[in-house]
Amino acid sequence: SGAVRINPSILAADFVNMQSELARIAGADFVHVDVMDNHFVPNLTFGPQMVGRIQDTSPVPLDVHLMIDEPERWAPGYAELGAASVTFHLEASAEPITLARKLRAAGARAGVAIKPDTPGESLYDVLDEFDQVLVMTVEPGFGGQSFREETMPKLRTLVDEARRRGSAVWFQVDGGISESTIAQAAEAGADTFVAGSAVFGSDDPDAAIAHLRSLARR
Ligand code: DX5
Ligand code: ZN
Repeated sequence: SGAVRINPSILAADFVNMQSELARIAGADFVHVDVMDNHFVPNLTFGPQMVGRIQDTSPVPLDVHLMIDEPERWAPGYAELGAASVTFHLEASAEPITLARKLRAAGARAGVAIKPDTPGESLYDVLDEFDQVLVMTVEPGFGGQSFREETMPKLRTLVDEARRRGSAVWFQVDGGISESTIAQAAEAGADTFVAGSAVFGSDDPDAAIAHLRSLARR
């Protein structure tokens, strides 16, 4: 039905040419920024200093995905540096509701993510405090993995529960989203699509964004 958002993940971009990489995705809705700490996931990317420079440089607003332990300690800083949305993992958070309120108070959209094996019902108590929910469609940590279609019934159930409550929360999918998988995720109720390799692996990233967008429209 409504809007479709395509958020390219700069995990698949060339890190030493970030400014020109950002210029190749002018048609994106948000730039997806994967922060990894080598504790919550077995990979390491960048932190607030780098993300602050990306924020200063990017014409497209930032969608920050924190794959880190202790989000209570770090997440508000990303909202304060100007990220449009900040998503942390439910599995890593001791106080998800308090943290969601802090993110909103700092002017960001508050997001909560769950890994593929985390049940959707674990979000029911906190759902109403968030602007967006991220259902991971791969195990977080690396780009270029295969889409796990067995996560789709969980997504569908969460979307139905949110709509039953009258919630306008956005539903994001992340991992293995491509021209061959995006329609399934849209069919299950996703409205916001993260794509790393499918966008930056293309010769024409803006054309890839437009094509993904057309495939997600139902
Ligand atoms: C994985 C990250 C994703 C990753 C997606 O842990 O959260 O955002 O960049 O990459 P692709 O689209 O290549 O699966
Ligand atoms: Zn991500």
